Amino acid sequence: MSQTIAVLKGDGIGPEIMEATLSVLNALDCGLQYEFLDAGLTAQETHGQPMPAETIAAIRKHRIALKGPLTTPIGSGISSLNVQLRREFDLYANVRPAISFPGTRSRYDNIDLITVRENTEGAYLSDGQSLSDDGETALSSIRVTRRGSERIVRHAFELAHQRNRKKVTAVHKANIIKTSSGLFLDVAREVAKEYPDIEFQEMIVDNACMQLVMNPHQFDVIVTTNLFGDILSDLCAGLIGGLGLAPGANIGTEAAIFEAVHGSAPDIAGQKLANPCALLLAAADMLDHLGMVDKGARIRRTIRTVLETARDRVTPDMGGTGTTDTFAEALVAHLHDR
Ligand code: NAI
Ligand code: MG
Repeated sequence: MSQTIAVLKGDGIGPEIMEATLSVLNALDCGLQYEFLDAGLTAQETHGQPMPAETIAAIRKHRIALKGPLTTPIGSGISSLNVQLRREFDLYANVRPAISFPGTRSRYDNIDLITVRENTEGAYLSDGQSLSDDGETALSSIRVTRRGSERIVRHAFELAHQRNRKKVTAVHKANIIKTSSGLFLDVAREVAKEYPDIEFQEMIVDNACMQLVMNPHQFDVIVTTNLFGDILSDLCAGLIGGLGLAPGANIGTEAAIFEAVHGSAPDIAGQKLANPCALLLAAADMLDHLGMVDKGARIRRTIRTVLETARDRVTPDMGGTGTTDTFAEALVAHLHDR
């Protein structure tokens, strides 16, 4: 049975990197069909709104989306489209792998870790934010639930199990934020008992930051609450040389949306200078999610080969002299190596 996926090309560099990504997917013969949908600025112009109902309906129908970056139109009180999608589909797990590739500006080699961030609760609540009438005191609440903690920790352990990973580290601040971070940690300890083959480690968030910078190789899978996960996953992207190679998946029970972590890069849009690798790595994670693990691995291997051997074909952000198109052509040319 062939799988149809919703494809949102997105704004700015979105169409360029999506074209490059789809050319690699097509050359891999994954048996995917695409339904192309508008979102973002393009949709604002064509449909009068940035997230049309038919786009939402198609994601609901196909349950899998590959998404280019969306420019959230400024003004008119539109909340981030990504937050909108997260709420609509209850995309509770934000899974962000950080894997080293050659030829990047990075302090370390051989980084291979995954941050699993809770994506729906914690400190990122639309309610529970208030400012006193005199403007002197602000209050932001943190809400952590047993259900929310359990499903994210379980997601991290299941991922570790499926990908043959050895260790899950729960990052928290339960020593100070005793209620919310304490509940998360309690639940993490309970869930960990169900996975005796995977090492479980607990680490306080400030120490985790230092440990990640000093000795990142000790980590494998990190699971944490929303705010800590937001910060730690960017720190991890920094460990591998920035956002050019950073994919992210937003996974829920109703749908999963795969995207690059970076934005629409209006400063280089239309110039064929955009690096397609972050979106392509997101597509590789999508193939893993669909059970095509060998094809996902092939994409990662090919990116490594091209970065090592065809530097004149890669984009300037990777130190090359090529374009989005020559990068994609080189990827397709090396896809069936070995
Ligand atoms: P950005 O990530 O678009 O750009 C930051 C810098 O990185 C720019 O100099 C850009 O040229 C460069 N860059 C980004 N992706 C690149 C690539 N693939 N290849 C080469 N260089 C790349 O962040 P910025 O400028 O803060 O945001 C621009 C727009 O993107 C905003 O409207 C923002 O709302 C949106 N955005 C959307 C996201 C999403 O849809 N997931 C995520 C982040 C931002
Ligand atoms: Mg962030």
